[in-house]
Amino acid sequence: MKVTDPNCLRLISNQKNLLNAIPEMVLLVKNAQSVEYMNPSAISFFGNLCSSNTKMKPNEKKLLGIILNIVDTAHANKSFGETIATSYENTHIEYTLAPFEGYKGDKLQWFFIRDLTDNKNQLEELSLFHNSIETILAHKISELKESERMRKSLTNELNSLKEHLQEQPSEGNMVGSSRALTELRDMVFQVAKSDATILITGESGTGKELVANLLRESSNRNDKPFLKINCNTISDSLLESDLFGHERGAFTGADSKRKGKFEVVDGGTIFLDEIGDISPRMQAALLRVLQDGEIIRVGGNIPIKIDVRVIAATNRDLTVMVQEGSFRLDLFYRLNIINISIPPLRERKEDIIDLTTHFIRKYRQAFKKDISFLPQSILDKLLMHNWPGNVRELQNVIQRAVLMAKNNAITENELFFDMQPGGHEDNSKKNYLDQIDGKSLKTIIAEIEKDVIEFSLKKNRGKVAETVEQLEIGKTAFYDKMKRYNISPKDHSY
Ligand SMILES: Nc1ncnc2c1ncn2[C@@H]1O[C@H](COP(=O)(O)OP(=O)(O)OP(=O)(O)O)[C@@H](O)[C@H]1O
Ligand SMILES: [Mg+2]
Repeated sequence: MKVTDPNCLRLISNQKNLLNAIPEMVLLVKNAQSVEYMNPSAISFFGNLCSSNTKMKPNEKKLLGIILNIVDTAHANKSFGETIATSYENTHIEYTLAPFEGYKGDKLQWFFIRDLTDNKNQLEELSLFHNSIETILAHKISELKESERMRKSLTNELNSLKEHLQEQPSEGNMVGSSRALTELRDMVFQVAKSDATILITGESGTGKELVANLLRESSNRNDKPFLKINCNTISDSLLESDLFGHERGAFTGADSKRKGKFEVVDGGTIFLDEIGDISPRMQAALLRVLQDGEIIRVGGNIPIKIDVRVIAATNRDLTVMVQEGSFRLDLFYRLNIINISIPPLRERKEDIIDLTTHFIRKYRQAFKKDISFLPQSILDKLLMHNWPGNVRELQNVIQRAVLMAKNNAITENELFFDMQPGGHEDNSKKNYLDQIDGKSLKTIIAEIEKDVIEFSLKKNRGKVAETVEQLEIGKTAFYDKMKRYNISPKDHSY
C-alpha cells in the first residue's frame, strides 16, 4: 500500500527524523522473528540485522538470534515499559519494550536499547579501585595498630626500666637526704678506698650492714671475696676455729687441719657483725690479726700472714663495755681507727619521707600493687612516731601497709607500728592497782622494780652505766637485781 496522504507522509517523516536523531538504539521487531527497522545508532552498534539485509554475516546472524530471544522472553513475560538489564558475551545492555501495531494489525515491538558496557566496566574498575583502597587502608590500620602495640610495650618496658633504674641505685644505696646521712655517705666513700679497719656503730635497724656492703663495694677489694660473720650466732669455740682454722687434733673431731675464713678470704674483706658479743679469748685472737696481720690456727703455734680488711659493727656501746671490763681497750682502739656512727632515725626525721617513698616503690613493685598516694595524715603519723626499730621498723610498716592496701592509697587501717618486745607499746604503763589483789607487798614491789629496771634499760638502749646513774643505784646492787629478775641488758639494747 502506497501512502499518499500528505498528513500521513508528514507524520512518517517526523517519526523517521526523530528515530534517526536519538542516541538510543531503536529496533522494530516483528513477532520476535525478524527485525523490520533499526535506527542509525542501532545499526552502528549491531550491524544491519533487518530482514531486508539478505547478506547477513555469521556474527550478525548470531546477534540477531540473541536479540530475538531477548524480545521473545520479554514478550512472554509481558514486560512492556519496564527497563531490564541483561548481558550477553561481554556486552551489558539495558532495554525497554513497547508495543507497536502494524498496518495490517500485526503485532510488533519497539525495542529500545542502551549500551551499559562502558558504564559497567567503569563501575567495576571503580569497585576494584575501591576494594584495593580498602585493602591498603586495612593494611595501614593493622600497621598502625601494630606500631601502637609496639609503642605501648616499649613504654611499659621504659617505665619498668625507669622504675628499675630508680630502684637500682637506691637498693644498695643509703636512701635519705638529711644532713646527717649526706655526711655519712660522704664519709663512707672517703674511707672505703683505704685498707683501714672500720667500726660501724648504731642502733639496731639503722643500716650498719648496708654501710658495710657499701664500704666493700666502693673499696679496691670489690672484686675480692667478702665474708660476713655474725659473731653472736656461733658458739665461741666454733667461731674461733671458723675464723682462724685449726690444726689436726686441735680438738675432738678435728681429724684433719682446716683453713679458717681469714685465710680463705685472703685479699678480701671480712665483716664481723655484732662484734660486741665476742669472748675475751676471741678478742685476743682478733687483736693479733689487726695488730700484726697474722693468725694462728687453733691448736697450732705458727703465725700465718694474712691480708684481710676488717669491717666490724655493733649496736652496743663498746666504750661502756671497756669501762665495765668486758671489752679489751687495745682491741677497741684497733677497731675504732675509723668510726662510722649511724644516727637513729628519730634524729634524722627528714629521711622518713625519702625512705617511705623508696619502700613504697619497692613493695608496690614486689606485690604488684598500684599505690600512688600517701595521705598527709599518714605522713604526719610516720613523722611523729619515735622509730625505736629505726629504718627496719619503717620498712616493716610500709611493707605491711602496701601489702594490705585495698586501693591506690595507704590509709590508717593499714598502718601498724611494730610492737616493742614484751608485747606492749614502749610507753604503755601497767595499772598496778588493778593487779594487786591476792599478792604480797613484797611481790608487788618486786614486779614494779623489775618493770622499772627493764623500762630504764630500754630507755638507755641497754647501757648499764647510764641506767645505774639515773636510778641512783650502785652497779653491784644493780647487777644483783638484774640476775634476780633474769634481765639481760643485751635484750634491751635495740
Ligand atoms: N638509708 C637506708 N636506705 C635504704 N634502706 C635502708 C637504709 N637504712 C637501712 N635500710 C634497710 O633497713 C634494713 C635494716 O638495715 P641493716 O640490716 O643494715 O641494719 P643494722 O643496723 O645492721 O641492724 P641490726 O643491728 O639489727 O643488725 C635493711 O633492709 C636495709 O636495707
Ligand atoms: Mg646488722
